[in-house]
Amino acid sequence: METAEIARRFLSFFEKNGHTVVPSASLIAEDPTLLLVPAGMVPFKPFFLGQRTPPYDTATSVQKCIRTKDIEEVGKTSRHATFFQMLGNFSFGDYFKEKAIPLAWELVTTPVEDGGFGIDPDKLWVTVYLEDDEAERIWREVVGVRPERIQRMGMEENYWSMGVPGPCGPCSEIFYDRGPEYGAEGGPQADENRYIEIWNLVFMQYERGEGGDKTGFPIIGELPKRNIDTGMGLERLASVLQGVDNIYETDIIGRVLRRAAELTGTRYGDDSDQDVMLRVVADHVRSAVMLVADGVKPGNEKAGYVLRRILRRSIRNLRLLSGSDTAFLHELTAVSIDAMKDIYPDLLDKADVIHGVIDTEEKNFAETLRAGTALFGRVAERTRAEGGSVFSGSEAFQLHDTYGFPIDLTLEMAAEQGLSVDESAFRELMQKQRETAKADARAKKLGNADISLYAQLLEGAGATDFLGYSDSRSESRIKGIVVDGAASPAAREGERVEIVLDSTPFYAESGGQLADTGTLSVDGRGLVDVEDVQKPLPGLFVHRGTVRSGEIALEDTVHASIDTDRRHAIERSHSATHLIHSALRNALGPTAGQAGSENRPGHLRFDFTADNALGGERLAEVEEEVNTVLARDIEVQTQERGLEEALRMGAMAMFGEKYGDRVRVVEMSDYSVELCGGTHVPSTARLGIVKLLGESSIGSGVRRVEAAVGADAFRRLSRESALVGQLSEQLKTPREELPERIDAMVSRLRTAEKEIERLRAAQVLQAAGSIAEGARRHGSALVVAQAAPEGTSGDDLRKLVLDVRGRLGEDEPVVVAMTAVPKDRPVVVIAVNKAGQKAGVKAGELVGVAARVLGGGGGGKPDIAQGGGSDAGKVDEALRAVEARVASA
Ligand code: SER
Repeated sequence: METAEIARRFLSFFEKNGHTVVPSASLIAEDPTLLLVPAGMVPFKPFFLGQRTPPYDTATSVQKCIRTKDIEEVGKTSRHATFFQMLGNFSFGDYFKEKAIPLAWELVTTPVEDGGFGIDPDKLWVTVYLEDDEAERIWREVVGVRPERIQRMGMEENYWSMGVPGPCGPCSEIFYDRGPEYGAEGGPQADENRYIEIWNLVFMQYERGEGGDKTGFPIIGELPKRNIDTGMGLERLASVLQGVDNIYETDIIGRVLRRAAELTGTRYGDDSDQDVMLRVVADHVRSAVMLVADGVKPGNEKAGYVLRRILRRSIRNLRLLSGSDTAFLHELTAVSIDAMKDIYPDLLDKADVIHGVIDTEEKNFAETLRAGTALFGRVAERTRAEGGSVFSGSEAFQLHDTYGFPIDLTLEMAAEQGLSVDESAFRELMQKQRETAKADARAKKLGNADISLYAQLLEGAGATDFLGYSDSRSESRIKGIVVDGAASPAAREGERVEIVLDSTPFYAESGGQLADTGTLSVDGRGLVDVEDVQKPLPGLFVHRGTVRSGEIALEDTVHASIDTDRRHAIERSHSATHLIHSALRNALGPTAGQAGSENRPGHLRFDFTADNALGGERLAEVEEEVNTVLARDIEVQTQERGLEEALRMGAMAMFGEKYGDRVRVVEMSDYSVELCGGTHVPSTARLGIVKLLGESSIGSGVRRVEAAVGADAFRRLSRESALVGQLSEQLKTPREELPERIDAMVSRLRTAEKEIERLRAAQVLQAAGSIAEGARRHGSALVVAQAAPEGTSGDDLRKLVLDVRGRLGEDEPVVVAMTAVPKDRPVVVIAVNKAGQKAGVKAGELVGVAARVLGGGGGGKPDIAQGGGSDAGKVDEALRAVEARVASA
């Protein structure tokens, strides 16, 4: 039975039984506790909780779902999918167990010709929750299931909730027995692979509180009514009714799978690793299509990241399968849309958009891979040239960190080149990075003290009154002192302190604007240098610094004073950031959202989302726009407004940021309107000049521009102008002609380098004839064992050895072992001809013998192998050891 037909039958069965057919909701959940919809009941949750009155008492739906918790299992088991459809029937205070159970049984077992699914009751088992006597009784007495076919299971299996506070209840599940070839006899309790769950009937009756995912949470009360929520995985049922082994082979997913095999030149069923990859591709492409159709765009966060991850996993698997970097996603997307269009006709209308989004992501990822692969190639070549066989952990880490290479990709590519990867060093670096990130976050947020200490300070002192929008000085009172992570009544000269005041002119770092620095002085008694100010809790300003002289104590009155020059320089950067943000949006459209920023004196950094690089020309346009606008000397106005009003005005807000009801809006006429808590220049001409310093990528989809502002920008320009003058003089070329002149020089240099390289290689190979003549007999083999001419590189050594082996022919066993010492480290390459290999001589083994003498390691295949070591003085000894080993073979 086709998947689409299964869905039709399900809906029409329940429609006939009085249910309203409700179309699937979008995959993007409206529920704030979820990113994406993971179950059929999600759109109905407010009805279960009694928060909204349903327009119907009973309903049925086929709901689109995404679950990525077990993404690593996809393709490996018979039933894990990232996208799937859940068939369900729901009762909102209407019928309960007594009707839900017989209805389910009826649909599953009614013969196909009578509109059911026609499953033989002999193949079915059911489970009920430990204490649910009522459900068991209905199964036995009303439906007539044999008692030995009913099993009781605990909370983990037979109690359902969304994993978070909300509706929940005991459940009862129907299982299908796939037969003895899939596992042990004994029902679902014995083997969940043989007996697969096809339908979950949840008796939604209670509300749960905080606690574990599936167990260990309190029941906090009864729902206003007793409800029914059932869920049947459409793909799973299709695999049963279509008699195939797993969901990936069903009619819809199977089409994508088969096409993926054709395109990549593989055969499904030939190789279990390949089969897993094909299933992953088939599943993921379909999920991507459905996510994009519902409006998700690839990104680095939330649903966007889910989409990006599955697309990248698909691309990577396709590359591994095909051994090429051909872009296959377009074609597979088309197949997937075609396979799903009967159930989701809107996919046809959206096909162009879906292709556009997926094609772009594939192109971008290809670029990431290309850049990473180039680095990989350089490192691999260097490793070999130095005679090593281990790809360094730090470079594997760089590939991961900068290029987004998963470690298994690096492992695979290294293996293809006969290299291993220093995985433990890689993991150590990963661990270190994680710890640094954690420590950074901790240091930043908490300083030395525990958050509970700050909570006490906030409770005792109340929120700090921030005076810094208008004042640079204040008379304030010390309300808290922290020394070494503990509250203290006073602090003395030389001590590092954290100080809480009742009011302050100091801006605490936030919204990308760095904190003010300055001093706190207590008349005639003490002086504190303030180096940083943070808000570990909303409203609590913590001044960090050192007591420079004297002593300070709680309740002292202090003169707080900020470094105003520094503050003004920071303000110039911050206002410039707003202008750049607007100019970027004008250039790229509203998708260029702010992803982070840092405003420090004279310099700013602005991160924004964009799929592609802006490029020099557009960057220049953005810069020009910013400087033109700022020269108009626009007054910068700040006002408090209601959040809704501000958003109506078109104020740009940081994506994902939470704002209160009242917000501060910073306006530079209507050119820039932003929600912002920072401080700014009074008018834009104060910025003087803004110089963009360039653009870079800081991770997929996020780009960074940096700029110098004011006097710093001028100094930079002036320095660069002097530099160009100097170059012009050195090269005796007018300034405008410098680029061509340098181009010509570089290209001449390249040609010359290539020529030198060619001559050197020719010289090395010229030696091959005389080296071959130096072959001596050891045992039954003809052996060359000598050092290569001075200056031979690792790569040339390999060529030379192969050349010499070729010259000695195949009439008898030949072993060529040669060494070179590029970059002070000895390298040995050994080649054995076919006759030699037949006689049992293996290049890999011989390299082991030589490398041990050289104090290193190496390996390779029987025909050619390479190794190295650290002791260049032992080259001769190593070659003699190889001869001796061949002689004794
Ligand atoms: N909510 C239950 C599940 O997802 C039944 O629909 O399994």
